[in-house]
Amino acid sequence: MNERINMIGIEDIPLIKTGDDLPLIILNALKHNNLSLENGDILVIAQTIVSKSLGRIKNLVDIKPSQRAIEIYEKMVPLTKERCLPIKSPELIEAILEESKQVLKAKHVIVVETNHGFVCANAGIDQSNVGGKDLIALLPLDSDKEAEKIRDSLQKLTGKKIAVIISDSFGRAFRIGAVGVALGVSGINPILDKRGEKDLFGKELKSTIIGQIDNLASSAQLIMGEADEGLPIVIIRGYNFNIDNNASIKQILRKEELDLFRGGKDTKSFENLLRSRRSYKFEFSDRKVDKALIKESIELARWAPSAHNSQFWRYIIMEQGKSRENLIKKMNNKLRNDLLRDGKSEDIIRRKIEKTKTSFLGSPFLILLCLDTIELEKYSDSERDRNEYLMGVQSVSASATYLLLAFEIKGLASCWYCAPLFAKDIIKDALNLPNSFIPMAFFTVGYSTKDPPKTIRKDLKDIIFEV
Ligand SMILES: Cc1cc2nc3c(=O)[nH]c(=O)nc-3n(C[C@H](O)[C@H](O)[C@H](O)COP(=O)(O)O)c2cc1C
Repeated sequence: MNERINMIGIEDIPLIKTGDDLPLIILNALKHNNLSLENGDILVIAQTIVSKSLGRIKNLVDIKPSQRAIEIYEKMVPLTKERCLPIKSPELIEAILEESKQVLKAKHVIVVETNHGFVCANAGIDQSNVGGKDLIALLPLDSDKEAEKIRDSLQKLTGKKIAVIISDSFGRAFRIGAVGVALGVSGINPILDKRGEKDLFGKELKSTIIGQIDNLASSAQLIMGEADEGLPIVIIRGYNFNIDNNASIKQILRKEELDLFRGGKDTKSFENLLRSRRSYKFEFSDRKVDKALIKESIELARWAPSAHNSQFWRYIIMEQGKSRENLIKKMNNKLRNDLLRDGKSEDIIRRKIEKTKTSFLGSPFLILLCLDTIELEKYSDSERDRNEYLMGVQSVSASATYLLLAFEIKGLASCWYCAPLFAKDIIKDALNLPNSFIPMAFFTVGYSTKDPPKTIRKDLKDIIFEV
C-alpha cells in the first residue's frame, strides 16, 4: 500500500553528449541538489539522454530514402496537410522504416512496430530536444540493458538498492495526448499481478494486472515535461515494491496473436471478412472515392498466388469521363448485335444495355483486369500451351478475388463483371492496350447506398466429396 509517494526532479543535468557516463553525471547532479539515493528509490530516466549518451543520433542529411519511403511520403503528404500537421520528409520516413519491423498504419501519422516490438508513432524517433535542425534521436537498441547498466553502476557507487526505468512518451490509439511509458527496466517487475487478491467486498480479482512501470513512468512525466523543462531524471521515493532482478520490458509486450487491434492474425475477423463480402450491383453513393484506396487495394491483390509466380495480372484504373463513356458505348453496340443475333427482343436488349450503363458508368472507378500473355511460358505442343493459358486465367482470378476482399477491407463496395471477355478487341483498341493484354474482367467500385442482399451458398455435402 502506498500512502505517500514523493517525486523529485534532479536539476542541473547538463546537455548529454555521445560517450557521457550517465551514472557519474547523475551522482554529480544529486550532489548539486543536496540529494543522495536511498534504498527503494526508483530512477526514471528520459530515453533522449540515454540515446544521446549512446550516440543513437542520426543526421537526416545522411539518409537516402528508399522507394518505399518515397511511396509512403507521397501517400502521407495530402493527409497530413489536410490536418495541418507537420510533413515528414522521405528521409525521416526512411529512418522510421529502418527502426521498424512492420508499418501498421501510414496515414496522417505513421504507426509502426519497432524492432524492439513497441507499437508507437514514428518508431519513437525524436526530433525535439536533440539540437541541430536535421538531427534525430533513435530509441536505444536495448533499453533493458541500459537500465541495468545504470542501475548496477549506481548501486555499486552508492551501496543502495534501487530500480531504474527508462521512459519515453507515446501517443495512444484511442485517446488524445501522449503519456509516459517505460521502454526499459531494471530492478522492478513491470506489472503488479493482483489476480487472486480480494476486492473491497472480498470478491476475488480474476484478471486485474496493473501496468506498474508504465504508471511510474507516466507520473514521472509530470515533472520531466516534454519541452524545455530540462529535467530528464526523476526519483520516485516511497513507492513500495519488491526488488526484481529479472525484470524486463519484454514481459509486457503483448504478442501480436493476442492483440485484438493489430488484427493480422485475427482469424475470426478474417473469417468474417470472407463471409460478409457481397457483390454490389446497385447505385453507388456520390461520396468521393480516394484513388489511393484503389491503389492500396491493388497493392493487396498483387499478393495473390500465381503459377510460377508469374503475376500475369495487369490492372487499368478508369476514372469517370469521356473515354470511359466512349468505351462503354462501343461495348454496348457489340452487346446489342450479339443479343440481336441471339434473337432477343428489343425490350430485353434495351434493359440489358441500361443495366450495363448504370453499372459501368455510375461506378466512381471502373477497374479493368487483363491477363498479360507475355508472362505465359511457351511449349512445343498446343495442349500444354492451353494449360499454361488456363493457369494464367486461374492466377488472374486469384488476384481478382484478393482485390474484392481488399475492397471489402477498405470499406468499398464492388462487383466483378465478365463483360470484357465479350469485347476484348474493342477494349484493347479503345484503350490502346499492348497486344499481349487480354481483357478479363471489370470491377465496379465505390461506396454503397444500401446493403446488398445475402446470397446463398450450396450445402457442403454438395461440394465436398471424400474418396
Ligand atoms: C467470374 C465472375 C464473373 C461475374 N460476372 C458478373 C456479371 O457479368 N454480372 C453480374 O451482375 N455479376 C457478375 N459476377 C458476380 C456474381 O453474380 C456474384 O459473385 C454471385 O452472384 C455471388 O454473389 P456474391 O458475390 O454477393 O456472393 C461475376 C462473378 C464472377 C466470379
